Amino acid sequence: MLESLDTIKTIALSELQKTSDMKTLRLWYSTHLSKSSQLIKSLRNLSNVAAKDRPTIGKHANDIRKILEQAYEDRTSYLNKSVESPGHKHIALDVTLPGRSLNRGRLHIATQTLRRIYTIWADMGFQIYRSREIETDELNFELLNIPLHHPARDMWDTFHTNSPGVILRTHTSPGQIHAMQANAPDPIRVILPGMCYRYEQITARSEIQFNQVEGLAIGTNIRFTDLKGTLSDFARRMFGTSTRTRFRASHFPFTEPSAEMDIECFLCSGEGCRVCKKTGWLEILGCGMVHPAVLTNGGYEPKKYTGFAFGMGPERIAMLKYGIDDIRHFWGNDLRFLEQF
Ligand code: PHE
Repeated sequence: MLESLDTIKTIALSELQKTSDMKTLRLWYSTHLSKSSQLIKSLRNLSNVAAKDRPTIGKHANDIRKILEQAYEDRTSYLNKSVESPGHKHIALDVTLPGRSLNRGRLHIATQTLRRIYTIWADMGFQIYRSREIETDELNFELLNIPLHHPARDMWDTFHTNSPGVILRTHTSPGQIHAMQANAPDPIRVILPGMCYRYEQITARSEIQFNQVEGLAIGTNIRFTDLKGTLSDFARRMFGTSTRTRFRASHFPFTEPSAEMDIECFLCSGEGCRVCKKTGWLEILGCGMVHPAVLTNGGYEPKKYTGFAFGMGPERIAMLKYGIDDIRHFWGNDLRFLEQF
């Protein structure tokens, strides 16, 4: 009888070690400590045992019950802890695993393109000159040879503020006047980058805000050939060494003569494709020799000084370069677009 009680204890304790959760633990309890378990039954049936053996056997069975109850409680708290931090016993920290990578931001595609343009012009000796986005009508138009009722104003409809004559600049060209007035009569070689605004119907091709990079070179003996050479050099640095350029006559009130520069389409190399609309050429910028009236307004004597100016749109350049079909993507703040660059 005593031996069989010991066997019950050994089996019960070894099975307790195998319990892995509350469910198996409850099952263990009903097998080994419930009223229907062998141990408790044997305690109940002590009356069947010979009277002289009763105290010894009864005490032994009771001791075993206490041991099992204690073991059950210990196991319960052990398993509870394991549930709180699952597997803490089994999974060691693997310090050789790679860390979780941080989701890094990046520069906006317009900023990337602007910086590329800055670098090229800096290499050619042009300084960056910052000029304000809120301008006066005088600087945005009048001093650039666009008087109040000039039809060319239609091209540059913009946003007005509550202060009369104070507007959001429609192009970076008023920066030419700032740069000239600050430097006359010294020679100038600057680029003027920044945001411009126009009151436009928003379509895939036009936005109410966009960047421009203006360029201005003033000095003695600067000629149209300098303009052509410098801008063609820029195109080769920006789009590849074999890029061909062509200049088409155009009109801007603040330059004379005026031109637009096209580059040979880099997608089809002049064959004609969807991007260049079958022409083989892509329009990149407007340019010209600074108009004498503008030189005078900037403080330079037009008989002595000459210069050239140009204006390009970095978003437009990025659209051509990466085949972006809609200018509204730039300021739409959609990560699916931004993360591609
Ligand atoms: N300001 C002109 C535009 O917005 C571009 C330009 C700049 C043309 C300088 C000639 C010289 O379209």
